[in-house]
Amino acid sequence: MSSQTNPRPLLRMSAIAKSFPGVVALGGVDLEVGRGEVHALLGENGAGKSTLLKILAGAQASDSGTIELDGLPVVLANPQDAHRQGIVTIYQEFTLAPNMSIADNVFVGREPGSRLLINDRQLDEATSQLTKSIGLERGPRTLVRDLSVAEQQMVEIARALSMKSKLIVMDEPTSALSLAEVDKLFEIVLGLKAQGISTIFVTHRLEEVFRICDRYTVLRDGQNAGAGAVAETSVEGIIKLMVGRELKALSERRAATEFGPVMLEVRDIVRLRTVTSPQAIELRNVSFNVRRGEVLGIAGLIGAGRTEMARAIFGADPFDSGHVLIDGVETAIRSPQEAIVHGIGLVPEDRKQQALFLSLAIKTNLTMAAHDRISRWRYFIDSRTEAGLVDDYRQRLNIRMAHPDQLVANLSGGNQQKVVLARWLALGPKILIVDEPTRGIDVGAKVEVHNLLLEMANSGIAVIAISSELPEILTIADRILTMREGRVTGEILSADADQEKLMKMMTAPIDRAA
Ligand SMILES: Nc1ncnc2c1ncn2[C@@H]1O[C@H](COP(=O)(O)OP(=O)(O)O)[C@@H](O)[C@H]1O
Ligand SMILES: [Mg+2]
Repeated sequence: MSSQTNPRPLLRMSAIAKSFPGVVALGGVDLEVGRGEVHALLGENGAGKSTLLKILAGAQASDSGTIELDGLPVVLANPQDAHRQGIVTIYQEFTLAPNMSIADNVFVGREPGSRLLINDRQLDEATSQLTKSIGLERGPRTLVRDLSVAEQQMVEIARALSMKSKLIVMDEPTSALSLAEVDKLFEIVLGLKAQGISTIFVTHRLEEVFRICDRYTVLRDGQNAGAGAVAETSVEGIIKLMVGRELKALSERRAATEFGPVMLEVRDIVRLRTVTSPQAIELRNVSFNVRRGEVLGIAGLIGAGRTEMARAIFGADPFDSGHVLIDGVETAIRSPQEAIVHGIGLVPEDRKQQALFLSLAIKTNLTMAAHDRISRWRYFIDSRTEAGLVDDYRQRLNIRMAHPDQLVANLSGGNQQKVVLARWLALGPKILIVDEPTRGIDVGAKVEVHNLLLEMANSGIAVIAISSELPEILTIADRILTMREGRVTGEILSADADQEKLMKMMTAPIDRAA
């Protein structure tokens, strides 16, 4: 790897420290990146990654520490200093001007008149050359506001290239991209590498690290937790560095032949677009079943109708025709309240908007659905029972909180999701539907949520897991259904599936006559 063959790395950050009032964000961190190297900066939320990168971008001052480029000490007091040194940072929130053209954004601050470019035509030509070199098929005069997120990111990269960068830094560049867009971004990164340009990138998707990165650095609680060559480690190795402890292996699953009887059967659910909701995604004859103890994964692209299907079954949205059978009995569900009575739970995609009461305490969020168990008379909560229940779930789910009276808003995403799951566990559902159960949460918490879902299934619950992350679906599902444009397009046992097969099934052409 570059920094091993080259005794003098391109970048060496040493003993970087940075505190905010009450928080040590970085307690003396080192980072070394070689020339032409793709370097993964990893760590759970709050580990200090963004702070370190802001210091490298000259956007934030460190309290102490040194930075060397090509072996020479540099001072990066502001973003211009960093640009002059060939370091360009692309942030999670883009810094493009939406009402300006691609060309103006790429060359902002250096328009005609500067020694580089004389007039509009040269500006457009220079822009086209850059955008074409990274595969952005848009004219230089296109307004940035008309571009997709992926295209905007490419404009940021074109801007970085225009500055003759040596090092491009990207903080979570793939979190808002589709699989195809991620592929394209990685092609660009490999193209940069071929030109000797280094990239540092932050991601929460560890499979990306193994696809594209040469070396990695892991931070934990503002300290170095480990670094090395990607080829010499594994996903488990990196997770262990990130969370600082050995995670429990995934729960053992029984063979598909050992699942119980069908718990939920969905037959021919149809939901048509109405005049009042012309944008709604239609459901076309959606049929499937889930057995007791089984995890059914639902894969599909955005707009495939997965969330709509879940909401229809849960009684959150009406449907036009079709049947839902629970335990073999046809059941009409007209509202979420009725769904809950029939033993169906739904953990929605957007836990902040739909699942949690952010301004209420953890204990209230945890126990609100289980009031029958903790109140002696309907409206009086027995605080001892409540405390016991909260403590029980806190231990079983490893929910990290300061105190049960703490507001849910102050928990990390992973711990918030555990609170939502605990609330359903307390209700003892027969069928649990989870929609993007680990979106935006840390790897450590992710493995714990996966384990929790598998344990729920092992206890006899029929679990339906909707996810856009194919590795996640392949990890937790026993059987996988693919959907596209409101239709079920295929079904496969997890054991027989891989990402490529699933992608094919998710994008299979649709027979519209059917
Ligand atoms: N501007 C700030 N003011 C106060 N605390 C901050 C600020 N920026 C970051 N922090 C804190 O510093 C720590 C590291 O944050 P950050 O660098 O954003 O981590 P990461 O990017 O790895 O998630 C966190 O505890 C965070 O709350
Ligand atoms: Mg960050």
